[in-house]
Amino acid sequence: MSVDLAVVPVAGRGTRLLPLAKSQPKEMLPMGRKPVVQYVVEELARCGIGRVLFVTGPGKAAIENHFDIDVELIDYLRETGKEELLRELAFEREDLEYFYTRQRRQLGLGHAVLCARAVVGDQPFVVALGDSIIGMHAESKVVRTMIEKFEASRAAAVIAFEEVPPREVVHYGIAQPRDGADEVFELADLIEKPDANEAPSNLAVASRYVFSPAIFDCLERTPPGKGDEIQLTDAVSMLIRDGRNVLGIRLRADERRFDIGNFESYFLAFTEFALADPQYGPALRKHMKELLAP
Ligand code: UTP
Repeated sequence: MSVDLAVVPVAGRGTRLLPLAKSQPKEMLPMGRKPVVQYVVEELARCGIGRVLFVTGPGKAAIENHFDIDVELIDYLRETGKEELLRELAFEREDLEYFYTRQRRQLGLGHAVLCARAVVGDQPFVVALGDSIIGMHAESKVVRTMIEKFEASRAAAVIAFEEVPPREVVHYGIAQPRDGADEVFELADLIEKPDANEAPSNLAVASRYVFSPAIFDCLERTPPGKGDEIQLTDAVSMLIRDGRNVLGIRLRADERRFDIGNFESYFLAFTEFALADPQYGPALRKHMKELLAP
């Protein structure tokens, strides 16, 4: 059976978005009309994922509520003649099963993925970060392509990468390609947040992964790294050192990653999504032009 399980870590504290993310999950912040994590789930559904396992933590209950079927709200909309709004709840009917587990201490992304081990067991799985959208309106099918490459190559991992300006490599896991970095390439290593002058490339991990369960053994052996957190990047590096084949795949230009992890990227992403809104985008564009006029 093809890979159909995705782990979506949403347990991070989101300290870079304080006070906005103090009492609401950053993954629930609005991106145009929808919360960020809804785009992530819709993208996964389009890519053939049938089961979504959220790794949640303190203060994240809004995510669980969002994906429930809200029968009372549906009845209310019907009774009050607002049937046309029911289409806004269509995502509740996605053909998906939801599972939830907890990361009880926020020890980093690698640790969050390790928390999924008991549920995932011995099967390959996707990891999709709950705070990153791929492509405008999340229309990317890159996860489907990654699953196909994973299955065809018998790699231990396939990871999405995006080119970033050299000054930004310090914020990301950066690829060291074995030979050239074609559309699909083999990784010689993956370096967590290197200094710009030490970075082996400017290809940054782009928040989508396909893993064989072998990643769990590496995560178990991974000591805390940068930021004193258990880094998923370090576990991938260990996978490569163990002699396993790890592939990178480049996002296409129309599959840009919208990360909402800090205010600058959140503001830019929100503005782009709002401008692309078919109903309100044109008026916003006009308003912004007026604001920016000398
Ligand atoms: P980030 O790397 O942005 O970390 O998480 P963070 O802790 O949420 O944010 P800051 O650095 O304090 O601002 C990337 C994704 O991994 C999840 C987050 O919820 C987010 O979706 N994550 C991160 C976890 O699930 N657990 C963690 O311990 C860390």
